[in-house]
Amino acid sequence: SFTPTPEDKFTFGLWTVGWQGRDPFGEATRPALDPVESVNRLAELGAYGVTFHDDDLIPFGSDDTAREGHIKRFRQALDATGLKVPMATTNLFTHPVFKDGGFTANDREVRRFALRKTIRNIDLAAELGAKVYVAWGGREGAESGAAKDVRVALDRFKEAFDLLGEYVIEQGYDIRFAIEPKPNEPRGDILLPTIGHALAFINELAHPELVGLNPEVGHEQMAGLNFPHGIAQALWHGKLFHIDLNGQTGIKYDQDLRFGAGDLRSAFWLVDLLETAGYEGPRHFDFKPPRTEDMDGVWASAAGGMRNYLILKERAAAFRADPAVQEALKASRLDELAQPTLGEGETLAGLLADRGAYEEFDADAVATRGSAFEQLDQLAMDHLLGTR
Ligand code: GCO
Ligand code: MN
Ligand code: MN
Ligand code: MN
Repeated sequence: SFTPTPEDKFTFGLWTVGWQGRDPFGEATRPALDPVESVNRLAELGAYGVTFHDDDLIPFGSDDTAREGHIKRFRQALDATGLKVPMATTNLFTHPVFKDGGFTANDREVRRFALRKTIRNIDLAAELGAKVYVAWGGREGAESGAAKDVRVALDRFKEAFDLLGEYVIEQGYDIRFAIEPKPNEPRGDILLPTIGHALAFINELAHPELVGLNPEVGHEQMAGLNFPHGIAQALWHGKLFHIDLNGQTGIKYDQDLRFGAGDLRSAFWLVDLLETAGYEGPRHFDFKPPRTEDMDGVWASAAGGMRNYLILKERAAAFRADPAVQEALKASRLDELAQPTLGEGETLAGLLADRGAYEEFDADAVATRGSAFEQLDQLAMDHLLGTR
């Protein structure tokens, strides 16, 4: 019953199962994977769709004829399997020309090239039916202080998103952008390092309605942040356009483990949130099967992420349906949190005139009330561990 179907809306980046295991200390441990093979295998495993960087599908520097050939084969595989392409993105980090970034490179020619490369792939994304275009600025950053004037770099970042917004409006594309924050790696420090930084940045854009977020589990956790809290705030702002699911064990390099590995409790609360908050976008996996694995391990890793999501979905639903949990939520005053602080029809003047709220308020007595959060959290633990 934890077998995925396309209705579960699981999607995978071509670069995830296709990762060959190159890291800063070692060569590839796996052969290159044909995107057509990825499409076929992911469809067999029950995925809904695939996503790609331009260069995942069309090797950098391909001429027009080669490019058309790659797109044609990919389309045929999509048609044969029914897999969708809900999202696409641009590789602005692998080629050495992007060593100082794409949209915020100090070198103006690089910025112009980055915009053209992105726009070219937006055309393809639109043709393939993608509704979300992700922008991960992995190389937008610095290793040293004077090398990047951050305020000016943010002007250039804004200029890029304003131009991209203008382009999709002009073309009439039904596409919105999703910024993917990350605190560091590959740059020493990356611009728009967290969900919060990116949300604030979006407010300064010419078309803020066209730009939202693609938060990744591990990226917020690399900064020691609570991922479900970040997702809840993104939802609150109406900015959760897409999500990258994976696993991470605390503040260290970007592990990109399969979803469910790493911080399992955080994964439980994340699934609980996505499933109860009405998030309707794809459940997109952005992970790297460890370089210890052969191709069988890669497909096991892909299947495992989906299976873990479905197990957690079942566990979170059981938690919410348990009468003891509903009692515990009441005891913890979650219903009270949902009540506005002012009474119905009450105004600020009413609060100021309420002697019970201040002059006669017994802070010491109220401070003795227990919160009952531990009982509630243990119920969650019992459900997560399958003992209830
Ligand atoms: C990372 C990032 C990248 C981006 C992807 C989209 O792990 O640092 O997740 O994988 O998501 O490249 O551009
Ligand atoms: Mn990552
Ligand atoms: Mn990602
Ligand atoms: Mn990644």
